[in-house]
Amino acid sequence: MRLTLLLLISFIVSCESKKPLWTVNETKIWLDLQGHRGARGLAPENSLPGFLKALSYNVTTLEMDLAVTKDGQLVVSHEPWFSHLFCKDSFGNPIAEDSARDFNIYQMTYAEVSRFDCGSIQNPRFPEQELVSSPKPLLTEIVGGIEQYLEKTGKFAVRYNIEIKSQPEGDDIFHPSPNEFSDLVYKTIDGRIDWNRVSIQSFDFRVLQYFNEKYPEVKLAALVENQNGLDANLEALGFTPEIYSCYYKLLDRETVKQIHEKGMLVIPWTVNEIAEMEQLYDWGVDGIITDYPDRIWQSQIPPNKIIEPVP
Ligand code: G3P
Ligand code: CA
Repeated sequence: MRLTLLLLISFIVSCESKKPLWTVNETKIWLDLQGHRGARGLAPENSLPGFLKALSYNVTTLEMDLAVTKDGQLVVSHEPWFSHLFCKDSFGNPIAEDSARDFNIYQMTYAEVSRFDCGSIQNPRFPEQELVSSPKPLLTEIVGGIEQYLEKTGKFAVRYNIEIKSQPEGDDIFHPSPNEFSDLVYKTIDGRIDWNRVSIQSFDFRVLQYFNEKYPEVKLAALVENQNGLDANLEALGFTPEIYSCYYKLLDRETVKQIHEKGMLVIPWTVNEIAEMEQLYDWGVDGIITDYPDRIWQSQIPPNKIIEPVP
């Protein structure tokens, strides 16, 4: 009886002492709802319409990926080429799967890249997508469009979770070296968006190590898909980032606790089923990256445990 009471009191105290992740425009953010590639389940991925769609579901962070063109422009794109699943070439023809990698963005100028359309083919994995013709956009266009929308609507300042897509095998073929890529991203964002509103994420630990050394003020998220475990990944990284962002199936209640004990936030990807969102919330994750930001509002997670307007 005495123990139960003590547990209850400590639970109440810990609930009360829990702080929001951040507060913006008088709104407390308790759970970081991230729109994956915008709202990939609902609109073409990594496109301005997709990011605006995500904002219509009150995401707190927009997740996006970057590639680089031959003339050094940052393009918002998951692949450094054109996917046969949802892109048409500059003549409006479909792209064959086995030739997709030949359309190498790093070997093309942005003028060439912009002639492809990656918004009007139905991606078979996402039948609910509303199609809209969209070239692969520049990062500067996306940031400009989003900031303009926020200003016009008075919505709270959303955050940006920006992924640098690189890997050792792709160096100088599909993208510049991790240092050059990182410097380009830093220079493009610096002065455009407050760094408080940005995290840089990567599976490529070389990128994270470089940022940690050169730009220590920038929040970093380690992307993890491997099954090496928390300790091995942190050892390989050589420092503790702010965020541990792993494939959601690598998590359980105990792992979430261990990540927290190491002082990191846990923000898993890519969580599309409502039951999985609820389970992860119950385990205490700090955010959820999803293709369907609409679905979290249909879940049993109390809305004011995601975003709470300050009275
Ligand atoms: O934010 C993490 C997630 O985007 C990683 O997976 O392949 O969709 O970039 P991917
Ligand atoms: Ca990504």
